[in-house]
Amino acid sequence: MVSLHSAELDEAYRQVEQYYTQKLRRYGPSPLGVDWSCVPTQALRFRKLLTLCDFANPFSLNDLGCGYGALLDYLALYHPQTPVDYLGIDLSPAMVRSANRRWAGETIRFHRGVESPRSADYSIASGIFNVMLDQPILLWEQLIEKTLAHLRRTSRKGFSVNFVHAPASGKRTRMGLYCTEPERWREFCRTHLRSHVRVIDDYGMSEFTLLVEPRSC
Ligand SMILES: C[S@@+](CC[C@H](N)C(=O)[O-])C[C@H]1O[C@@H](n2cnc3c(N)ncnc32)[C@H](O)[C@@H]1O
Repeated sequence: MVSLHSAELDEAYRQVEQYYTQKLRRYGPSPLGVDWSCVPTQALRFRKLLTLCDFANPFSLNDLGCGYGALLDYLALYHPQTPVDYLGIDLSPAMVRSANRRWAGETIRFHRGVESPRSADYSIASGIFNVMLDQPILLWEQLIEKTLAHLRRTSRKGFSVNFVHAPASGKRTRMGLYCTEPERWREFCRTHLRSHVRVIDDYGMSEFTLLVEPRSC
């Protein structure tokens, strides 16, 4: 893994924070406000990421890049019977304020930042690696490595993340969107994070999900 210059990293986070804060200002707490197109695809991402979790028992969950807290709507709708000790983390103060306005409860908390202040059974991160704006790709991939290493350290049973698939050759994607191949990050998690990795990429979107669980030895 490579070490990052903190000034470059701070600047990348600042730009991403502004991007999402503007989305929220424009569209409010809704899928468009976190740069998704609609509720069904936002929910489909959650369903794939949560494949990792054992809903037969209570668990703690860190939601990195929680936005306005849409995952809690999903959990309330589809898993109301399972107690979840939830912490949402987001780099945008406006997102955290919005989430706090929408949700309250003894087992629901939000934190502004790019790392979780606590460990949990599981962590998920939906959509946090997609919008890289005009960061150099090397810097962006270093930021992803750093974030994955943090998720590994703070997730006792495992974590899951999603990425946008690289387009077929000749096809173009939106400017400033980070696209990649599953193998690139499967290998990183396997080798550098000593983890077992499953890839899900058959859900009809140009995205894939990695489910990452610590190897016992
Ligand atoms: C595409 S939105 C998805 C929000 C939420 N996960 C959902 O699916 O509804 C990404 C969110 O992650 C936040 N974010 C982006 N990069 C982040 C990072 N490195 N650390 C923490 N939050 C981040 C953004 O502010 C934004 O709210």
